[in-house]
Amino acid sequence: MTDTVLDGMDLTSPDLYAERVPLEEFALLRRTAPVWWNAQNPQDHSFDDGGFWVLSRHADVKAVSCAREGWSAAENGSIVAFEGNIGKEAIDLQRLLLLNMDPPHHTEVRGVISKGCFTPRAIATLEDGLRERAHRIVSEALAKGQGNFVVDMASELPLQALSDVVGFPVEDRAKIFDWSNQMIGSTDPDFVGDPQVSAAELLTYAYAMGEERRACPMGDVVTRLVQADSPDGALSPEEFGYFVLILTVAGNETTRNAITHGMQAFFDHPEQWEHFKAERPATAADEIVRWATPVVAFQRTATQDTEIGGQAIAKGQRVGLFYASANRDEAVFTGPDRFDIGRDPNPHVGFGGGGAHFCIGANLARMEINLIFEAIADLAPDISPVGPPDRLRVGWLNGVKDLPVRYA
Ligand code: HEM
Repeated sequence: MTDTVLDGMDLTSPDLYAERVPLEEFALLRRTAPVWWNAQNPQDHSFDDGGFWVLSRHADVKAVSCAREGWSAAENGSIVAFEGNIGKEAIDLQRLLLLNMDPPHHTEVRGVISKGCFTPRAIATLEDGLRERAHRIVSEALAKGQGNFVVDMASELPLQALSDVVGFPVEDRAKIFDWSNQMIGSTDPDFVGDPQVSAAELLTYAYAMGEERRACPMGDVVTRLVQADSPDGALSPEEFGYFVLILTVAGNETTRNAITHGMQAFFDHPEQWEHFKAERPATAADEIVRWATPVVAFQRTATQDTEIGGQAIAKGQRVGLFYASANRDEAVFTGPDRFDIGRDPNPHVGFGGGGAHFCIGANLARMEINLIFEAIADLAPDISPVGPPDRLRVGWLNGVKDLPVRYA
């Protein structure tokens, strides 16, 4: 292991992701330094530990994700880099999000949420409604002739699906969309709102909704989650607020970016678009998620001295699970740099490497991706790009703000 491999590069730099995902650097690390020390300047980051280990290989990402002990999501949270020093209190607050909890609390809260709204049956019942919505979204974009694919097509279905899952009133959706953008795009100059204010506004909104249902049950998902005598247990008002917060961020940005990168991948590989239009393979959604890997990396913190791939990791050190690198690991994927919607098997880690925190919305996301591309194939099969994507400036997300396209 040598820290000169990438010459002091920071793989969590927002400026880097505003340009590209560093796929070549990831390939170099997998070959020469699969567990690599990424120094972080404490002045630019919220962590004052000097940096973290980058895990670039699929096997190592999976091993840490699936380990039952030895790693914590709560200690430093899951986000590898916040730009600037957001302060210890902000990191402490992160622990209220499911993503950043450890057992036994994580197991309890996840159980309530899974039973409350993510059972296979609950997700399946959304399908017909979402198919109709996908057709409506594509028809409306088509009527405009051309526009920004991210706003017109990629962001709407995830937002509407989320509204179905949680039960947000239709009239509140634009508000929720703005809060979600401002929370996640905080390092991007195009987003002017303060992320802390947006998070606070969304939380206040969610608390009020939880209180309302507790006082006046409606037999919906929110009521099930907050009612103390619910058979599945209940979330406290605070837990419910943070549940809405994580769903809003985790369910919107990720799926929106998977859909946008999927469209760009179809533009770059027109034979795959022809294949999709003709056969609509069920394997397409997973290949789109592998190819896009919207979440570049999350992190865990070692709770004991350990070793990965021959590298000693000290208790308290952080490791970055680089899903974007693992998803191009030539030891696992044949032709990893080929976009192949028929790829099967496809053991990608775009939804996480398995284990306790594996994406709770994975099946919903697959459904949304399939439905929107089916609607595009039905109604706008000749969709074409009119300019390059404009990327989001966030140090751990593969995001796109603008993808100019002609719909017909
Ligand atoms: C293509 C779309 C999506 C991608 C790429 C994605 C990716 C991820 C990843 C990488 C994780 C962390 C896994 C880990 O730490 O092991 C995660 C967790 C999570 N995701 Fe997703 N996600 C997507 C869609 C969704 C949707 C649609 C929802 C909900 C509506 C959702 C809700 C969550 C939640 C609540 C967690 C935290 C689970 C836990 O900590 O127990 N995600 N997701």
